[in-house]
Amino acid sequence: MTNDKGPIGIFDSGYGGLTVLRQIRKLMPQYDYLYLGDNARAPYGTRSFEVVYQFTLQAVRQLFQMGCPLVILACNTASAKALRSIQQRDLPLIDPSRRVLGVVRPTAECVGDITRSRHIGIMATPGTIRSATYDIEIQKLHPDIHVTGQACPMWVPLIENMEHQSPGADYFVQKYIDELLQRDPLIDTIILGCTHYPLLLDKIRQFTPSHIQLISQGHYVAHSLSDYLRRHPDMAQRLTREGTCRFFTTEQPSAFAESAAAFLGNTIEAEHISLQ
Ligand code: DGL
Repeated sequence: MTNDKGPIGIFDSGYGGLTVLRQIRKLMPQYDYLYLGDNARAPYGTRSFEVVYQFTLQAVRQLFQMGCPLVILACNTASAKALRSIQQRDLPLIDPSRRVLGVVRPTAECVGDITRSRHIGIMATPGTIRSATYDIEIQKLHPDIHVTGQACPMWVPLIENMEHQSPGADYFVQKYIDELLQRDPLIDTIILGCTHYPLLLDKIRQFTPSHIQLISQGHYVAHSLSDYLRRHPDMAQRLTREGTCRFFTTEQPSAFAESAAAFLGNTIEAEHISLQ
């Protein structure tokens, strides 16, 4: 166990977590960050529970080794399939003084104040939908809300391959939105339950009726983290504050840096890392 100071670790299967990192840094630019994208093994959304858990645990261990006292799983699939086991089973053995937080809970919390019809939709990877994590979290927090999940297996591959702005993407964007709204026409709020989806936001908006609110997670996750650090000054004190951000990928750093610019709106440099 150690009480050394260090940066906040942000983990995603690939690029999606950059949309969360961007909002977190906007709100809390003073902290140092390490971003880790497991691009070589992305996407996670179609992988089994066990595999996502093993990959996520490797990433968390790596970020701990690199000195992060706090790690955010900026990936719904990892949050849905691995967070609870890591928090309850692994963390007490690895280092009980460190923390791992996810993105599902902060998103589930915000939805109660937004929906009027009390019918909401979740659009996410097949893994997140199959896990039913959103249904369970929302049921706990807002038992009167009716939740319908829609798996969108083609959205992450479109984004990871930088095809999300192409005309070919329209078909799959419209298809999943139509399927969701056919299953529950009373939906007035849709959670974009995958950190990749903000890149598809313009197209999703285009094919969604205008009375429906779309919830992108970055903003809510950033505010929830800031609130967490206010409530846990002991953790806030363990975070270094030089305003730096380093990027690590399990793929080729030059390809990562090029694609990351689309998610972040500015150019970066990336370094290679292996996970095992
Ligand atoms: N960005 C991840 C999420 O939020 C999923 C991407 C993937 O399938 O790897 O669920």
